[in-house]
Amino acid sequence: MSDKPSYLGLLNSIAVGEADGEELFCAWAAATPRADVKAVLEAVMLREGEHAKSFAKRINELGFSVRPSEAPSHASRMAIARSTTLADCEKFEQLNIGVAPMGTDVFARFMDDLTIDIHTGELMGRYISEERDSNRMLQGCRAAVAAEANGSADTSAIDARLERIESALAALLAKQ
Ligand SMILES: [Fe+2]
Repeated sequence: MSDKPSYLGLLNSIAVGEADGEELFCAWAAATPRADVKAVLEAVMLREGEHAKSFAKRINELGFSVRPSEAPSHASRMAIARSTTLADCEKFEQLNIGVAPMGTDVFARFMDDLTIDIHTGELMGRYISEERDSNRMLQGCRAAVAAEANGSADTSAIDARLERIESALAALLAKQ
């Protein structure tokens, strides 16, 4: 077995986190009523699953095994994702998904370790690029469901206003 790389912990947390992400996006994709949202969630789910396996494979190639760990928020996040009563726009909000990073993102420092080997570095570069692309896709998806939610809110406001006008008209006609 080789010496333990200083970045093994980072690889492990990516492998574990991506497996959680796969599970979360799978549950959400199964619950959404919108085909366009499902398509994005499934694309992200497949990336997350592939990342989990690729990092587990790299850890194995380096002579180690993935050490499973339970994220404290995973169970509650899963409950949100699989909910059939929460709307997609509420899920985006509660899960804090599809948010544009402020300035930079969590991945910006993942290549800071100067000892990262070439194969791990290649994998990391692809992983970061795909994560950023997934985030852009999710931002677009979040904007689309938010626009739909706002649109239906506007429609119900107009409906209520029309009802008031109709009632007022009916009252006027009744007086004649
Ligand atoms: Fe991810």
